[in-house]
Amino acid sequence: MRIKKFCFGTVINTEAVVLNIEKSNKGEMPYLQIRDENELTYELEKSDIIYGLGENVRGINKRGWIYESFCSDEFDHSEDRKSLYAAHNFLIIQGRETFGVFIDCPGKVIFDLGYTKKDSMSITIPENDFNVYIIDGNSLKEIAKNFRKLIGKSYIAPKWAFGYQQSRWGYKSKEDILNVVKGFKDNDIPIDWVCLDIDYMERFKDFTINKETYDDFENFVKDLKSQGVRLIPIIDAGVKIEKGYEVYEEGVEKGYFCVNENNEPFIAAVWPGKVHFPDFLNKEARVWFGRKYKYLTDKGIEGFWNDMNEPAIFYTEKSLKKALDKAYESKDKNLDVYSFFDLKDSFLEIGNRLEDYESFYHKMDGKLIRHDKVHNLYGYNMTKSAAEAFEEIDSNKRFLIFSRASTIGAHRYGGIWTGDNKSWWSHLEMNIKMMPNLNLCGFLYSGADTVGFGCDCTEDLAIRWNEFSIFTPLYRNHSTKGTRNQEPYNFSQNTIDILRIIIENRYAFIPYIYSEYMKACKNDECYFKPITFEYEDETLVEDQLLVGDSLMIAPVYKQNASGRYVYLPEEMLLWNMVSYKDRSFKVLSKGHHYIDVELEATPIFIRKNKILVLGKHSNCVDNLNNEELDLIAFVDNKACYNYYDDDGITKKYDNQDFQFKISIQKKDNNYEIGVDALENCPVKKLNLTIIDSQGNEVKKKYNI
Ligand code: GLC
Repeated sequence: MRIKKFCFGTVINTEAVVLNIEKSNKGEMPYLQIRDENELTYELEKSDIIYGLGENVRGINKRGWIYESFCSDEFDHSEDRKSLYAAHNFLIIQGRETFGVFIDCPGKVIFDLGYTKKDSMSITIPENDFNVYIIDGNSLKEIAKNFRKLIGKSYIAPKWAFGYQQSRWGYKSKEDILNVVKGFKDNDIPIDWVCLDIDYMERFKDFTINKETYDDFENFVKDLKSQGVRLIPIIDAGVKIEKGYEVYEEGVEKGYFCVNENNEPFIAAVWPGKVHFPDFLNKEARVWFGRKYKYLTDKGIEGFWNDMNEPAIFYTEKSLKKALDKAYESKDKNLDVYSFFDLKDSFLEIGNRLEDYESFYHKMDGKLIRHDKVHNLYGYNMTKSAAEAFEEIDSNKRFLIFSRASTIGAHRYGGIWTGDNKSWWSHLEMNIKMMPNLNLCGFLYSGADTVGFGCDCTEDLAIRWNEFSIFTPLYRNHSTKGTRNQEPYNFSQNTIDILRIIIENRYAFIPYIYSEYMKACKNDECYFKPITFEYEDETLVEDQLLVGDSLMIAPVYKQNASGRYVYLPEEMLLWNMVSYKDRSFKVLSKGHHYIDVELEATPIFIRKNKILVLGKHSNCVDNLNNEELDLIAFVDNKACYNYYDDDGITKKYDNQDFQFKISIQKKDNNYEIGVDALENCPVKKLNLTIIDSQGNEVKKKYNI
């Protein structure tokens, strides 16, 4: 394994890595210069590219900005932000030298990637205590894979979690949820799950159900599941301070909450008002909180989303007092510009303050540790708390769990969504560019709030965004209160018809998406890749992605665009897909092309000597019938595909082999088909469409 480890200061074990690498002498650190024991620098060549940093603003190439790894409750995902909800400290530099760097540190890390000086990279770790891993490999793919071996296998979601999911902060009651499900059923739109946002709880208390709006919750969960729809409740980090509330009482009694400098439970305010934060970094507290999920799994719940776990703080008693004092002081005064701004800022800066993060403590292995020093581990350990509990509940069952805050290490326990984006075209573009960097950091089960969380979406944005999201493992339409209703059935009839077909396309693509996702998880590979990861000598194209091994996509993300430019690093087969049922293909040569893309079309490129596997849609994942699959092969010489599938719910995937391996070899004017299938292969029939470089199409059937 070509990984070197260097240690600085006294390092807290973050459990981000799983391999035991012996530490090397700092004097031998390759590539990077060490300054003042807490800064690493590297001179960049003009053409060097920097990949990585997972969840962050800007492009696939992170060069030209300064990023700070410090998990932040940041709803404004604009270009000038330095941190979002996650801290993903892995980079790959490609160019004069090509290598990976991982900074294993639980606190803040600053990545100045050519911001202060455009040709210099500087990584500063203010706390001085950290490990650096330098990862080598013979290719970008190999470096990425070596890194994934270092940090351990990515979380595997259940197969039903690949279905379409509807969510909105604002569904208040059982009736609201039933109306959503009805909206989908009445319009024949597939759906697999609906999220329950904070309103399902009794006054925003974790592990409670509002009995007035959700009476007989257990049967409700059961009834919906029998219709193929699962409910996915939210769990927030803060525990409401309320006499008689079991989670609060127990946590206080056992000392499981984070404490202030006087060793009293620290008080902050979030949704329910004043809360305490469970001390997820204290093992006992983590196990205790995790076991609370059973309250909901006992009622038939099979998945959750963990939120506000940066942790987000609306205000503390101190920050509120400061702001209010300022307000009283300003009463009846004639405020000039600066005093008015002061007053306004005292409220704008009331939450998520560093000062507050510096005033509470964790009990880690018997030691008191100030929160800001281990800030980035909080969300990670909340996810771990749930994952460990699921393991106890049923060690062979896959539960769905995805989180807002995360750091590398959390990728072994759950997926993530990318937080509170907006219904903006630029956020669709950011979503596209973020996906490969998330994959590099191990987060394969991920996705953004499709159509945008904040702001009102337009119908064309809804269509274009769904056209991209059909490829993301987590495919969730989520929005906030007060915005335009963006459930697919809430648009005009023509848009409903288009969205129905797009969502059907997703379900037809699940055999390919799931097979590629599972192979990527099992083999430490990426499901989404920048095109340079397969075509290293080519220049990076920021808005085209490789999806799995066979496809390239070039989504349209500009309003009113009726097409777009694409760059093909080699000859490919274009399928400008409207419905997966209508097949018409065109061979495009290597190079630049302008392609027309109607609003209802999703351009898909099948790579040379590769195969796309398709099924048929159904109303939900559990009802997919993939006994018969369609294979579309673009064959110049020989194309092979290893098809992976499993039951999707147990963890038997560890020793599961490919259901079938197929090879299609061109022989004179015909093709030789070789299929090697499992004895009890559930796939019985393959319908092959084989296209060669001249565009000649041959159809064949193969019975397994
Ligand atoms: C946070 C989450 C968002 C959720 C809201 C209410 O803003 O990021 O997804 O809807 O809280 O729970």
